[in-house]
Amino acid sequence: MPENCWQSECIPRGQPSPLKPKGSIEAKKGAFGWWEAVTGRKAKPHRWDIGLEAKGVKVRLHQFLSRTGHFSSKRDVKNAIWNGDITVNGSIVKDIAYQFNSRTKPVEYQGKRLHLPDADLIYVFHKPPGYLCARLNAKERAIGKRSVFDLFEGRVDSTVFARLLTVGRLDEATTGLLFITTSGDVVHRITAPEHHVAKRYWVSAKRPLTEEAELHLTGGVTIELEVDGHTSDYTTQPASIERVGDRDFILEVQEGKKRQVRRMVSAVGNAVEHLHRLSIAGATLDQFDLNEGAFVEVTSTQLEAWLTED
Ligand code: URA
Repeated sequence: MPENCWQSECIPRGQPSPLKPKGSIEAKKGAFGWWEAVTGRKAKPHRWDIGLEAKGVKVRLHQFLSRTGHFSSKRDVKNAIWNGDITVNGSIVKDIAYQFNSRTKPVEYQGKRLHLPDADLIYVFHKPPGYLCARLNAKERAIGKRSVFDLFEGRVDSTVFARLLTVGRLDEATTGLLFITTSGDVVHRITAPEHHVAKRYWVSAKRPLTEEAELHLTGGVTIELEVDGHTSDYTTQPASIERVGDRDFILEVQEGKKRQVRRMVSAVGNAVEHLHRLSIAGATLDQFDLNEGAFVEVTSTQLEAWLTED
């Protein structure tokens, strides 16, 4: 289990994801730093990369620790280092001037991961059923609603927790891959319609998918959308379908209107029984081996590679 991964003990592992990737991306591309290793190219700078950390510039350990806000004085920082309470990339470091890239090497204080307060974080999350992609008010809590953010509370810094956003939304009943981030730019990069980011869903329909329905789904169907309280017709963009069973198919769409897949399937006279997101661009949930409710931190370099791979 990577150190930056939080795996839920309390949510039992759900149905294994029905689709296996065509070969493990990790095996194909190696572990950390794989993008540069495979392509021989440095990843492009990203709009959501901020500060020295994101540019891959080395920082001194005492400077990094002072900026985290966890220590009240420089003396406390030095004592924590000299006492052997700080690890960098899993090894105790007692040299206050030790230089490292905090973007690629995790720092822990007494076993707890430290972040710079302004660092943007990106998590891959395995959404369980029964959770909403929203912050909830008291009324919603009173009727027993739960938020995906509940599964981050106490497991990430409170300053990070307060800034978390979901990258798009999955319906309450939908399961699967969801990015959660502190960065509005990451949200925009993935959800803006002009970026045409492909999302793949495993759809289990109530009834068999007819050939006619398949043609309509892939060519574009008309669904109703509510915009500013008004309902209007919308024709979906071309999509692709891979049949995996009588009632099961994988639908790939490059847009993300509200409840789009459910509306598309009902527009062709069928209904969704279960919906599971398998992947977003090159990021497949299977490669992370996450239980439902678990998440793992990933880097903007990894994200950019997933968004730009063929
Ligand atoms: N389409 C839907 O209908 N629901 C989701 O959760 C995601 C895509």
